[in-house]
Amino acid sequence: MTMNITVFGATGQVGAQVVALLTAAGQDVTAASRGSGVDAVSGAGVDGALANAEVVVDVLNSPTMADDAALAFFTATAANLTAAAKRAGVGHYVLLSIVGVDQLEGGGYVRGKVVQENAVAASGVPYTIVRATQFHELTEVITGSLVVGDEARVPDALIQPIASADVAAVLARTATERPANGVMDLAGPEPMSFADMAALVLAAQGKNLRVVVDPAATYFGTPVHTASLVPRGDAERAPHRLSDWLGAR
Ligand SMILES: NC(=O)c1ccc[n+]([C@@H]2O[C@H](COP(=O)([O-])OP(=O)(O)OC[C@H]3O[C@@H](n4cnc5c(N)ncnc54)[C@H](OP(=O)(O)O)[C@@H]3O)[C@@H](O)[C@H]2O)c1
Repeated sequence: MTMNITVFGATGQVGAQVVALLTAAGQDVTAASRGSGVDAVSGAGVDGALANAEVVVDVLNSPTMADDAALAFFTATAANLTAAAKRAGVGHYVLLSIVGVDQLEGGGYVRGKVVQENAVAASGVPYTIVRATQFHELTEVITGSLVVGDEARVPDALIQPIASADVAAVLARTATERPANGVMDLAGPEPMSFADMAALVLAAQGKNLRVVVDPAATYFGTPVHTASLVPRGDAERAPHRLSDWLGAR
């Protein structure tokens, strides 16, 4: 049965893949982004993008990681989109979030994601929050952020990278399922230490840096402990491994 599905963040890393999968599956997809006249911060064009929508997939991202701006972005967009979804009688709001986000002592970006999750859960619109681990595509940025001189100084913590393509596949499937009215965790196939992740990335880049575990190292300024970024309970595990993804590039 064809469903009307509006994807916010349709031009993004995940959103473009979700749009492609849903379109290939024969769904009636509205791809919303600023280029299509939809500004989720001001609310302009949001009601129009939701005309006839049965399902919303929210894969928006803040254009900036700066604390105040990221918090303001997720606060405004979640308020606008959930209110409009309620007005439009949307039957399922699917939100992409981050594994462990509510337990992190993070800055504005992390707090913004929690505000976003809470707005969706409190909206009165049936919902599913899919919390994913860090994307394969982000591991090079993470590793680069940890390089000091000729060393990568990594936190003493686990990470369980996932391909963004696997995240998109789960979101596309979830969009056509019944709302969970709760949170599900989604992770890559295997947890690994930050040290092992950095060693894989550096080897793939042909960089000969020493990897050192540094208890003071952070994840983009957020302190992380052993299991901060990996699922602590049940989680769906995606198939594609970081080592294969790095090797295929
Ligand atoms: N990266 C990770 O490892 C990771 C892990 C777990 C969860 N996540 C979550 O995944 C989500 C999606 O990330 P991504 O990397 O796919 O994002 P992205 O590539 O940065 O894409 C962001 C999307 O948001 C749209 N957008 C930005 N500002 C907008 C506005 N004012 N109005 C309407 N649309 C706007 C952009 O469209 P235009 O610029 O074309 O308007 C674009 O389509 C994020 O919420 C992130 O927290 C990421």
